[in-house]
Amino acid sequence: MKIILLGPPGAGKGTQAKFISEEYSIPHISTGDIFRKNISEKTPLGVEAKKYLDNGQLVPDEVTINIVKDRLGKDDCKEGFLLDGFPRTVNQAEALDLFLNNKGQKIDTALLIDVPKELILERMTGRRVCPSCGASYHVKFNPTKVEGKCDVCHSDVIQRKDDTESTVKDRLDVYDEQTQPLIGYYKKQKALSIVDGTGEINEVFQRVKESLKSICK
Ligand code: AP5
Ligand code: MG
Ligand code: ZN
Repeated sequence: MKIILLGPPGAGKGTQAKFISEEYSIPHISTGDIFRKNISEKTPLGVEAKKYLDNGQLVPDEVTINIVKDRLGKDDCKEGFLLDGFPRTVNQAEALDLFLNNKGQKIDTALLIDVPKELILERMTGRRVCPSCGASYHVKFNPTKVEGKCDVCHSDVIQRKDDTESTVKDRLDVYDEQTQPLIGYYKKQKALSIVDGTGEINEVFQRVKESLKSICK
């Protein structure tokens, strides 16, 4: 199963990706997570990417496309994969199509998690993440059992640097300008499915499963 998760920042892509990846046993590939890992390890890629992430801007296409191609070439992607946060520009989508075409493959679906803008700011500014194991929480909608401590590894949870109100607004503008056109792109390919991303996390996952059932065997 080859799935792309589309949706604005804060739509719940990472949250749903975790469930989808477990349910269908496919690797969860998040370009945002790859960049953040490199930033925390201060690799050359991390140093370069940090300039963009901190301001809510996109990392240049050529950098991002090569990272994803490398990742998709790994053995665990043979049976399928779940892309979270990639593609994010038409350029990236075309590069992905070409890469898969050359192997006689194509994606099964681009699944859009649809959430109105009004809900996004609250989701983003309330998000807390674990810097050690990557688990993600929300102070109101998905709180840690012990305040401020990760349920999984008990590290102190933190707020992502780009989850401040002003950077979230910039990220939403970037989404409108550069990523939104992908909805039309996949619609034209008849590969778009849309899931209502409002309501409880588990409710959204039930909708995701329903939608995937009809698309992928
Ligand atoms: P990335 O990490 O991909 O960020 P994003 O797309 O902005 O998305 P988020 O991770 O913020 O949101 P999400 O949809 O995963 O929501 P989540 O599940 O966490 O990218 C970060 C940066 O990296 C970019 O700005 C860019 O610089 C760079 N980058 C990445 N990919 C790139 C690419 N392809 N090209 C160029 N640059 C790239 O949920 C959000 C919060 O809401 C959480 O607190 C969660 O608990 C809560 N929540 C989730 N679902 C619900 C629900 N149903 N009800 C209530 N709360 C909910
Ligand atoms: Mg995410
Ligand atoms: Zn943790």
